[in-house]
Parts: sequence; C-alpha cells; structure tokens
Amino acid sequence: MDIVKLHTLDQGAGMPVVLLHGFPFDHTLWAAQIEALSPAYRVIAPDLRGHGRSPAPEGAYSMDALADDVLAALDERGIERAVWFGHSLGGYVTMAALRRAPARIAAIGLVATHPHPDTPDKRLQRIQSAELTAAKGMSDLALSMMAVLFAPELDRQSAPAQAVYAMMQRTAPVGAAGALRAMADRPDSVATLQAAHLPAVVIAGAADHIVSLDVAEDMAALANASLVTVEGAGHLPMIEQPDATTAALRAFLGALDQGGTRHPRT
Ligand code: MLT
Repeated sequence: MDIVKLHTLDQGAGMPVVLLHGFPFDHTLWAAQIEALSPAYRVIAPDLRGHGRSPAPEGAYSMDALADDVLAALDERGIERAVWFGHSLGGYVTMAALRRAPARIAAIGLVATHPHPDTPDKRLQRIQSAELTAAKGMSDLALSMMAVLFAPELDRQSAPAQAVYAMMQRTAPVGAAGALRAMADRPDSVATLQAAHLPAVVIAGAADHIVSLDVAEDMAALANASLVTVEGAGHLPMIEQPDATTAALRAFLGALDQGGTRHPRT
C-alpha cells in the first residue's frame, strides 16, 4: 500500500517524542501534553491515515501501512530514532512499528492499549461497523463511543467531553471505516512485546471500560514495563486527567534523559 503523507504537528526541539492518537480521534487529543512537553522535547504528533487532517483513502488499511506512514513522516524530518507513545489504536501502530523498524524506536509508552487481536465476534462487529460508518457517517459510532470512553467523574456535557465528541464527528467516515478494518485484521503483538528489548511504560486509566486494568497489568508484565495507573480516568487519560498523564510521560522521558532505562531487560 502506498505511503500517505500525514498532517503532522512538529513542535519543539530536543529528543524526538512521537505521540499517536487512538481511534477515531486526531493529534489534538494530546494537546495538553504537546504544550507541556514541547519546551523540552521535539514533539511529533501526526494525524494517522484516515483521521484528522490527513488523507483518508478508500479501502481497508493495515497496521503496517499506518506504521509506515508515521515512519515516513519521521524520514521526511530526518529523524532516525524517537520515543513513541501510542494511545489505543496508536498503541497498535506502535507495536506494528516495533516489528517493522525496531531500530527506529528508542522507548515505548503504551497508553490505554493492549497487544491482543480481535476475538472473532469483535472482528465481525468491527467489519459491520466499518460498513455502517462508510454508508451512514460518524454519528452512531461517535454516540456509542461516548457511552464507554470516560470515567464516571467526567461530565459528558463538559468542554473536554464535547471536544472529544466533535473530534469524532469530524473524522472522515471512509477513514474510520479503513481504520476499523485495519483493527479487525491486526495481528497478535504479544510476542512483539516479549521480544522488545527497550524501556517501556504502560499508562492505564483506572476506570477504562475498553482496556481493563487487568489487561494493562498483564501487558506491563510481558513488556517488562513500569505501570502507571491514572485514577479518575477511563479510556482517555490524556483528556480526563491531563496533569497526571503529562506527569507520567515526563517521568518516563526524564528517566531516559538521564540515561536510565527504567526497566531494562537483561
Ligand atoms: C481506540 O481508542 O483507538 C479504540 O478504542 C481501539 C479499539 O477499538 O480497539
């Protein structure tokens, strides 16, 4: 599949830090972290293929294609190695990049994501959702996601929740459908994480209904990663608890800056 040139925010200077958003959002999901980190780091935050202001070609995407787009955005900037943080779908893309170009990844942060493929039922549901979304638009998908995205603490009428709703509504239906099909066909990444010899952190919302804390704990163990649980957050810790999430990113990056590899594999 051809590379898609991604709409990419590139802000700040220093160690390159890639922030990948989940489905069906865009890079502005990370707005608080971009502002907080870019005085000290070069933050690269693309809109993945099919999302935000990036092109949304027709057809099914794949995790490999999504990862190759991000690697190409780094090539374009002459960035050989970076720390990658991936939220949910962005985590699946990070794990694909780990398979495709491990030398390009200095460390990983996995946020509200997991390494398992879809179950057969979930896969079928994704494919149906892709068909419906392509035919009817984002409204049903955005509404159904609003019901499961947040911890009970967050008022669904609050500005951050409504901004997330608007972000989903802006996603191109054909792009969302392509990403749903990519998620339906994504491979198991357990072995990828087990084989990865790099510093890793798992950041999990304590009240995430999409990726449960148990799953996050298991992933942290198999990736030899530290685990940060964000209290009062569901699937979108960077929006629900921006300061705590930024603090988790900073702590991980700070340890790397000092040459630390918080949990080195031997
Ligand atoms: C996401 O936030 O990217 C999605 O919840 C991922 C998924 O549906 O598996």
